[in-house]
Amino acid sequence: MTEQPRVTAEHTADKRLRERARAVIPGGMYGHQSTALLPGAYPQFMRGGRGARIWDVDGNEYIDLMCSYGPVVLGHQHPRVEEAAAAQAALGDCQNAPGPVMVDLAELLVRTVRHADWAMFAKNGTDATTMCCTIARARTGRRKILVATGAYHGAAPWCTPRPAGVTPQDRENLGYYTYNDMESVRQAAAAAGDDLAGILVSPFKHDAGYDQELVDPGFARGLRALCDETGAALILDDVRCGFRLHLGSSWEPVGVAPDLSAWSKAIANGHALAAVLGNDAFRDGARQLFVTGSFWFSAVSMAAAIATITALAEERAVEAMERSGAELRDGILAQAHSWDLPISYTGPDVMPYLSFAGDEDHRLGDVFAEHALRGGVYLHPRHNWFVSAAMTGDDIARALEATDRAFAAVRKQIGN
Ligand SMILES: Cc1ncc(COP(=O)(O)O)c(C=O)c1O
Repeated sequence: MTEQPRVTAEHTADKRLRERARAVIPGGMYGHQSTALLPGAYPQFMRGGRGARIWDVDGNEYIDLMCSYGPVVLGHQHPRVEEAAAAQAALGDCQNAPGPVMVDLAELLVRTVRHADWAMFAKNGTDATTMCCTIARARTGRRKILVATGAYHGAAPWCTPRPAGVTPQDRENLGYYTYNDMESVRQAAAAAGDDLAGILVSPFKHDAGYDQELVDPGFARGLRALCDETGAALILDDVRCGFRLHLGSSWEPVGVAPDLSAWSKAIANGHALAAVLGNDAFRDGARQLFVTGSFWFSAVSMAAAIATITALAEERAVEAMERSGAELRDGILAQAHSWDLPISYTGPDVMPYLSFAGDEDHRLGDVFAEHALRGGVYLHPRHNWFVSAAMTGDDIARALEATDRAFAAVRKQIGN
């Protein structure tokens, strides 16, 4: 095992950028909002990445276990995706009308995702979840949407986890249920009565900062049956999981088809794109909406999405991620055992979340993450990690070297 930490450069360029950002951007707004929640040792600015490796602005290299919080699924700068994006960029990106790639992509998505009869496009996951709710309301003429307590569906006033600037009216058409608890859904549906427009659900419970919970197939089937009974839309928020768990809807392996699904993150391997997919029953509701954005029809990200989905299939990327995820899980569990540290390692292997027993304030999680970072692996102490298809055996071995040192540091901290 390597004795010295791999990350040695001082974060001087990073510190300078933080100071400059603080002066001209409210709160500094370091990159992704979840990045600001990381322990202080983490860099807040990144220079670039290739495959499963990323570099911060001071030149430190890390094995990337966050994958830009999900978008990078094939690895950074995947050659086929970047070639397709560059070829489209040479023709044009943001124009008076969409490029032919929009129709090609809609056809590919409809072929790839079983429940989909049509596709619409946007930029971010929040656009897609918001559109799904609006389509459900347009189709049913009802108002109420049920969401799981604590679930994340985006950053608009109706769903942001921060209360600042949000009015009670922004939330008045939401009802709440507990994930995997059908009785709580029935109660929330009864409270909505004949005003129930839709039920929004994530493929599994992946609330940041908590152990993850896979979906109970009986719960998924129960939601489907309730929506069939009431005419409400079953809406799957596949923004975080889509095309990482399965090359299709994440609930295809569960055997439950939603009416509408929201996608973004991994569909274009890091290029900005979101999609709403739906079945024929909701086509007319979708047609009625006025939804657009200056950049929503940019052709480059659509060309990138076509290349991404094609590469996911041809390179058997989901299987590759599952293999790497399983290897990582086995290594982590063996290390935790050898250091006699009780941990939970929850969720799918390709999107795991690690927590230490009794570590409610995440103090041990932070120690673990900081030492992993110093050892050259970039992971998150309060958010699920992401495995990409670019991870090699060497990347996993290096990541495990770092996590072993990180477990040693946690052991020492508890000892102290
Ligand atoms: C499950 C889920 N839904 C919606 C969103 C919102 O997506 P975006 O940040 O692209 O607006 C996210 C983002 O993390 C997410 O994880």
